[in-house]
Parts: sequence; structure tokens; C-alpha cells
Amino acid sequence: MVARVVDLRSDTVTKPNQAMRSAMAAAIVDDDVLGFDPTAQKLEMEVASIMHKDAALFVPSGTMANLISVMVHCEVRGSEVILGDNSHIHVYENGGISTIGGIHAKTLPNNVDGTMDIEKIVKAIRGTDGELYYPTTRLICLENTHANCGGRCLSVEYIDKVGAVAKEYGIKLHIDGARIFNASVALGVPVHRLVQEADSVSVCLSKGLGAPVGSVIVGSKDFITKAKRLRKTLGGGMRQVGVLCAAAYVALRDNVPKLSDDHRRAKILAEGLQKVEHFSVDLSSVDSNMVFFDIKETSKISPDRLCEVLQERGVLAMPASSTSVRLVLHYQISASDIQFSLTCIKGVVEQILTDGTKNGVIEQNMLSVSQTVTV
Ligand SMILES: Cc1ncc(COP(=O)(O)O)c(C=O)c1O
Repeated sequence: MVARVVDLRSDTVTKPNQAMRSAMAAAIVDDDVLGFDPTAQKLEMEVASIMHKDAALFVPSGTMANLISVMVHCEVRGSEVILGDNSHIHVYENGGISTIGGIHAKTLPNNVDGTMDIEKIVKAIRGTDGELYYPTTRLICLENTHANCGGRCLSVEYIDKVGAVAKEYGIKLHIDGARIFNASVALGVPVHRLVQEADSVSVCLSKGLGAPVGSVIVGSKDFITKAKRLRKTLGGGMRQVGVLCAAAYVALRDNVPKLSDDHRRAKILAEGLQKVEHFSVDLSSVDSNMVFFDIKETSKISPDRLCEVLQERGVLAMPASSTSVRLVLHYQISASDIQFSLTCIKGVVEQILTDGTKNGVIEQNMLSVSQTVTV
């Protein structure tokens, strides 16, 4: 029985706090599929206003938010979307844009900072002149912060450049902004400015902001009208959804200012990990609330084994690859949790190495990674 648990698997693991639970209990609700839930409307109006977009729509998940957005922009059959080969939409969303949306993905390499080279984007764009043979590019997707690239932030200059390319070629720009508030806080740029050039943005309220459920899509009125129809088609129309929106509203109201604490603590965690002989951490890659670290091959410690033994000590983490581990912070992780985690991690490394030496079974630790990060 472990007395203390520090859950660093993801920022999706937060539990609704008392303010959220009270707001849920008190929420005034009605049928949102019929368009009458006042609490859903209040949240949607608030997000649209923060993002400086015309309209917004609450949906159950970030995955549905992205799927709907891509499908609305690519409603003409034979459409193609340009997106990063390491993007959440491409890697972790069950290929929904192709299996459900019938949309062709043109992937470009994500650089380590989450960007795709602008020249490569321009080169990849295919116009209607080749439509006898080729799908037609109708959309570019960016992700900010970029989860698989370690929570790296895309700068406003970069996004503006991609937006300018999209405009020049008459195509749309969607931003998977699951953690757009993290990017805004880390960069010190207002969130509306970051998404100024985007035609649509999906914003998760259930990641670092700590709501139990939900994402909001923002865009033009016409875009959101189409998105609403698709949400219903996909089974995402929810009746007295104000219960969820009430908690999400509290998350948005109370938790944005706390993100800078998460980022500061992520740096402290990364600095602590860097001091562990068997790890390597690129401190310059820690932009927001995620810390990825590599385990040196010479240690013969696998991420699976590290996470397994860590769990026994009450620290939950997930392997990111066969050589790396990802730790994610959120507002329910305190400064003392970080110190506790560092102590446990160091202890676990020593334990694994000592056990391995004693038993002569270090190689077992190198068995394949059964699971990689999914969020
Ligand atoms: C960058 C990014 N986009 C989208 C999603 C999908 O969100 P959901 O899990 O709510 O479907 C995630 C989930 O972690 C994510 O990290």
C-alpha cells in the first residue's frame, strides 16, 4: 500500500476540485442538442471571446474536436490535409480523418521543435489543376504545444508564416490547441494573438486546465454551424451538458494563471533528472509542462522497468519510447511532489541497478516496451 501517489502520466489525470464539483451541482441546464443549455452557451461564448473568434462549440473530446474541424474544412471529397508525421491527429486519433472523414493525409516531418519546414509545406500543396490524379490540399494542421515533441511551443511568427502560406494558396489553417493556453503562457503571447491566423482551433479544457471532460472548437459562424451538424452525426450532441460545461468554465476561469507554476516545476524536474548519471535531458526542450528524458543505453534500464518500479513507490509515469520516459505536470502536482518524485526516481535507478547486478539479470530490463504514450 503506497501512502503518497504522484501521477505524472499526463495532464489528463486531474481530478475535479471542489469549485468544479460545486459548479457542476449548481449548473442551470437544458437540452443542448435543441440549443437551449445556458451553461454550455456561456462557456462557448467565453471561449470564442478569449480566442477572438466568432463562434464556439463544446465537444466531448479533443479527438472529436480535431476530427470535426478537419472534416468541415475538407468537406469536398478528394481533399488532402497537410500535417506533421508526429502530430496527435496523425498518430493517436485512430486515423479518423481518413476512416471516418475520407480525407487524405499528406504528412511532413515534424522537426524537434514541433514545426514543419515552411518550404516543405509550400511544396506539398496540391491545387485543383491536378485533381484528375491528385487529391486537392484544403487544410494545414499545426499543433501547439506539440505533445510528441515534448510540449514545445510554436511561436507566433511561425504560425503567422504558415497562415500566410495558407491564405496565399486559398487553403485553411487548423490548430490542434489541446494545450494552446500552455503555449500562450510559456511564450507570453495572448492566446488570441497566437491563433489569429487560424481558421479553427480545438482547445482542450481537460488537459492542463483540469476540467474533467471537454474541448471547445472555435471558428467562424459558418464553420461552427457545420461543426454542430457533424457533432450530432458523430454522436457528440449531449443533452444537459451544462453539468460538464460548468466544471470546464471553472477550469478556464481559475487555472490559466496556474500554468506558469507547472512550467517552472517542469524545469526544476528536468534539472533534477539531468543530474542522474544514467539519464540525459535536453533542458532547452522543456518549454511547457512536459519533460521527456532518455535513459542511456549503457545503464541497461528500460523505460518499462523504470516506470514499473516507480509505480511501486507511488510515482506514476509512462514510457515515451524504447529509450525514453515522459513526465507531465499539472496544477495538482506541487513543488513538494516534484522533490518527492526526484527522490523516488533516483532511488529506483539504484534499486534496479543493484537488483540487476545481484541477480545477473540486467538484460531482462531491456525487454521491449509494451506500451508507449498515448496522450
Ligand atoms: C495534442 C493533443 N491533441 C488532441 C488530443 C486528444 O484529446 P482527447 O484525449 O480529449 O481526445 C490530445 C490528447 O492528449 C493531445 O495531446
